[in-house]
Amino acid sequence: MKEFKLPRLVYNWVSLAGVFVATIAGLLMLVLLIIAFIEDEVNPYFGVFLYMVLPPFFLGGLFLIPIGMYRHWKRVKRGEVVAYPQWPYIDLNIRSHRNASAIFFFGTIIFLALGAIGSYEAFHYTESVAFCGKTCHIIMKPEYTAYQESPHARVACVSCHVGPGAGWYAKSKLSGAYQVYATAINKFPRPIPTPIKDLRPAQETCEQCHWPEKFFGSQQKQFDHFMYDSANTHWPINLLIKTGGGDPSTGQTAGIHWHMNIGVKVEYIHRDEKRLDIPWVRVTDKKTGKITVYQNEENPLTEEEIKAATPRIMDCVDCHNRPSHFYNSPDHAADMALLKNHINDSLPYIKTKVVKIMAAEYETEEQALNEISKFINDYYRNRYPNLYAGERASIDSSIRGIQQAFAQNIFPEMKVRWDNYSSNIGHFIYPGCMRCHEGKHKSAEGKTVTRECIACHTILAQGSGARAAMASTPEGLIFEHPDENTGEAWMEMGCYECHSGVQP
Ligand code: HEC
Ligand code: HEC
Ligand code: HEC
Ligand code: HEC
Ligand code: HEC
Ligand code: HEC
Repeated sequence: MKEFKLPRLVYNWVSLAGVFVATIAGLLMLVLLIIAFIEDEVNPYFGVFLYMVLPPFFLGGLFLIPIGMYRHWKRVKRGEVVAYPQWPYIDLNIRSHRNASAIFFFGTIIFLALGAIGSYEAFHYTESVAFCGKTCHIIMKPEYTAYQESPHARVACVSCHVGPGAGWYAKSKLSGAYQVYATAINKFPRPIPTPIKDLRPAQETCEQCHWPEKFFGSQQKQFDHFMYDSANTHWPINLLIKTGGGDPSTGQTAGIHWHMNIGVKVEYIHRDEKRLDIPWVRVTDKKTGKITVYQNEENPLTEEEIKAATPRIMDCVDCHNRPSHFYNSPDHAADMALLKNHINDSLPYIKTKVVKIMAAEYETEEQALNEISKFINDYYRNRYPNLYAGERASIDSSIRGIQQAFAQNIFPEMKVRWDNYSSNIGHFIYPGCMRCHEGKHKSAEGKTVTRECIACHTILAQGSGARAAMASTPEGLIFEHPDENTGEAWMEMGCYECHSGVQP
């Protein structure tokens, strides 16, 4: 067999190093690509390695080859080494030139093909939930964990955070590149501040799937509470929520989704970053052009403040701000775990204890899980020794239930807790609807933004045992506060003024 030959200019250290690096990187990419095609589920770092780390090595190696050849040619010309006194020439009659040209030609084709597949896969990969949620696992762990439990667990992160179109794609990749850098140098904020200021308008994300004209009517929903007494008494509240609709052609424009900006435009000015303090609201009727301005009469804005502000147009995210990352409060997480029997509700005062230990401050998740186990064991061992001896299995499984509830909702490393991330749906532990509906927002004509319980929902049933009968009138029941000592305070005060996600 004849000897395989390449042009002599290639034989220099730089080019040879390039050939070496490119070959290794290329072979690795080929093998990984084959694995990626065969396997359905691969480690998230696999993608980072395949689509982001290897290609620069491959390209870098390829670049080194002509650079080395050029340097070598310069040295030959200067007479430092012998060979090739003139520009290199290509003569296909010479075997080594034929070999080099063939390698170059086929190499380019293979490279372009691989490059096309690679960049297509890289595009898909950076759009995937695995990339967003798992790759930077410490930072995105809270969002990813809550996401998996949410109704949107099958919706890709990018459907809400990027949406369709090239413009936002490029924008997201640019800010993404900064985020990767911020992560690498450990410079990201904990917790990540919300509301996200430049979140894409809901019309272009949520409304790709949710059709705002669709009429929802009313929605029945049960809220399960357990009281802080020794029996952990179950106290469900069953509501018919008047979700309603916003489009006159599909139904009445009544109820909660009236704010969806189909027949009206609702704008507001907020004083704080968190958009919790909303002293000014403007409603424009799109048909008649009538404008109504509501101001918080106890704390209105001055004319100058109004002029200086840019009102925000209300959209889905002003109410549904946690459609996918809802961090339950200890109170609610305990209720859910008790309801699902992950925590045994026959253990005396278990709800009080769970909420107390979950709400404590921790540095790390590991520390929290250990403290939970120690605290619950100590409590029952000291206070209820007989029960502790007889109910070990149930106490152990309840501890696992508490640990799980903690790990799904509280993330000490990222300082993510219910009290850093308020939800705007409802008004139980966060102001939510009551940012405007607390009964203090009045218009010049004296109209008040309603605080009537029945404007938003009717109570179908409340409490357990003998009380639990269903309401028999369309107006439903009058709210009854489970804790008798609190009496009728709820008539004047917001629930969130006493309830904050822990024992009030
Ligand atoms: C159904 C839509 C939706 C999906 C799907 C979604 N998000 Fe979000 N996400 C939001 C909204 C809306 C906010 C902003 C809330 C605000 O501005 O107050 C948000 C906020 C965030 C924040 C800011 C911090 C926080 O917890 O609020 C991060 C980080 C985040 N999302 C990451 C992700 C990741 C990672 C995924 C995929 C695993 C994902 N999101 C999927 C809608 C979504
Ligand atoms: C890619 C499609 C998609 C996008 C984008 C999307 N959603 Fe959804 N959403 C769904 C689907 C599907 C469901 C129903 C899930 C189920 O019932 O299992 C849903 C359910 C909901 C629900 C009802 C939740 C419940 O508890 O039943 C709300 C509220 C909601 N979405 C709000 C939003 C908001 C707000 C946004 C934008 C930030 C958004 N969605 C973006 C697909 C989407
Ligand atoms: C004024 C606040 C508000 C605004 C604005 C709003 N919603 Fe809602 N939405 C609610 C409430 C309250 C419910 C009742 C469900 C609940 O309490 O969890 C609801 C229910 C829903 C549901 C579930 C309906 C069902 O029958 O399962 C979907 C889906 C939804 N909203 C999507 C949207 C979308 C998309 C937008 C923006 C175009 C939007 N909402 C704007 C407050 C709002
Ligand atoms: C930014 C302020 C603001 C927020 C936040 C807000 N609303 Fe409203 N809402 C208004 C205004 C203003 C009106 C209309 C008053 C008018 O002109 O009739 C209104 C009207 C309503 C109506 C009556 C619609 C009708 O039939 O006339 C319902 C029901 C309602 N809101 C429910 C809710 C619920 C539920 C929430 C929380 C999820 C909420 N709103 C949050 C400002 C707000
Ligand atoms: C502006 C609309 C609005 C008004 C006014 C309103 N609510 Fe609500 N309320 C809601 C919405 C929306 C929810 C559902 C929240 C959710 O889906 O998580 C809710 C939830 C509740 C719940 C269940 C809370 C939980 O987490 O267990 C109770 C109880 C309740 N409301 C009582 C009242 C009472 C009593 C009044 C009158 C003083 C009142 N509400 C006034 C909108 C309103
Ligand atoms: C003046 C303060 C105050 C107000 C206002 C208030 N609560 Fe309470 N609530 C309490 C106290 C105190 C308890 C009893 C806690 C205990 O047993 O230690 C309680 C207990 C409860 C419980 C049972 C235990 C739990 O946390 O699940 C529910 C449910 C409840 N309240 C709902 C509401 C709702 C809904 C509103 C608003 C309509 C409201 N409360 C307004 C102080 C208040």
